[in-house]
Amino acid sequence: MKAYYLVKNGNSNNAFELRDINLSEPKADEVSIEVEAFGLNFADVMARLGYYKACPPLPTVIGYDVAGKVIKKGANVKDIEIGQRVTALTRFGGYATHVNTNQSGVVPIKDNTDATVATALATQYSTAYYAAEFSMNLQKGEHVLIQAAAGGVGTALTQLAKRKGCIVYGTAGSDEKLEYIKNNGVDFPINYRKQDFYEYIKAQKGEKSMDAIFDSIGGNYVKKGLKLLAPGGRLAMYGAAQIAGDSDKKSLYRQLKTLFGFGKYSPTQFFGNSQALIGVNMLQIGDFKPYILKQCMSDVVDLYNSGEIKPFIGKVYDAKDLAEAHNFLQKRKSVGKVVCKW
Ligand SMILES: NC(=O)c1ccc[n+]([C@@H]2O[C@H](COP(=O)([O-])OP(=O)(O)OC[C@H]3O[C@@H](n4cnc5c(N)ncnc54)[C@H](OP(=O)(O)O)[C@@H]3O)[C@@H](O)[C@H]2O)c1
Repeated sequence: MKAYYLVKNGNSNNAFELRDINLSEPKADEVSIEVEAFGLNFADVMARLGYYKACPPLPTVIGYDVAGKVIKKGANVKDIEIGQRVTALTRFGGYATHVNTNQSGVVPIKDNTDATVATALATQYSTAYYAAEFSMNLQKGEHVLIQAAAGGVGTALTQLAKRKGCIVYGTAGSDEKLEYIKNNGVDFPINYRKQDFYEYIKAQKGEKSMDAIFDSIGGNYVKKGLKLLAPGGRLAMYGAAQIAGDSDKKSLYRQLKTLFGFGKYSPTQFFGNSQALIGVNMLQIGDFKPYILKQCMSDVVDLYNSGEIKPFIGKVYDAKDLAEAHNFLQKRKSVGKVVCKW
């Protein structure tokens, strides 16, 4: 049994080390999984760069999602059988050939489900589903803005919003990505490296025109987004990719710029406009409302099985090329999901 340990913050080439591991017996609420594929998430890049507070001290094994086969289970696990293939959300530990994880983040998949697709369903689709269904309660005909729409969560959000009959505005950072988000269902694609998204939407539809905004960039993107929010609108913030920047070095300047970029808000402004600013953090949902995490995971697997959502696997790496995969995601080259296979 092996795992890639994050041993050093900074450049991906020096960050990981393959080590032998011993897997402990699963606890009462855990299953042990033999991993076929593990997914990368942007939070992993933030952890590598040293920005992710929830990351355990180094050396540690990061990784939020795996697909594989259950090889052991704890006494309380009733609805998952040994031998079943599953998609699983791991609270770290995913970059491994074997991992134990709590049953609340584990859902069976069909025998013919591609393992790489299954990893996308865990963190990225479940986050998008929770945000779209539970936090934002998207309605037919609503105008929705999705930031970083070409990414893993962005791809999922677009499909879920279109499924609800929303009109989708989406941003991405290159013309190739624009083509991708258009094909994925975005009605109004915006290359935000060429055009300010706020000015574009203001010119097209005016301020106060978006019913729902999904923001994973943070800072001044949230501030500008709030100006575009209609009365009755909701803005969900679920990431702060802006902090990462292009450098491998941690930057206090970028952290402060992002923090001050948010601006200041008073509850009365939200009350007055009947608006909401909503935070989404799936770690907290997993810890405090595990039954909701389970429901989100089960629902996205059902939607996948019925053909209503289609994860896009942008790139698959051999696990030995983990450093390259990390760099690819960090440098904003990816669309959809980035996955490593053992
Ligand atoms: N709160 C939660 O529970 C939760 C769960 C999952 C994910 N997330 C967050 O959701 C976001 C998306 O996650 P993901 O795994 O699906 O990643 P992703 O969207 O596939 O990758 C991140 C994308 O963010 C965009 N981006 C914009 N500004 C950036 C900047 N300054 N530096 C780097 N990238 C920038 C890039 O797309 P462009 O080139 O198109 O700009 C990049 O490809 C991340 O912020 C992640 O932390 C949060």
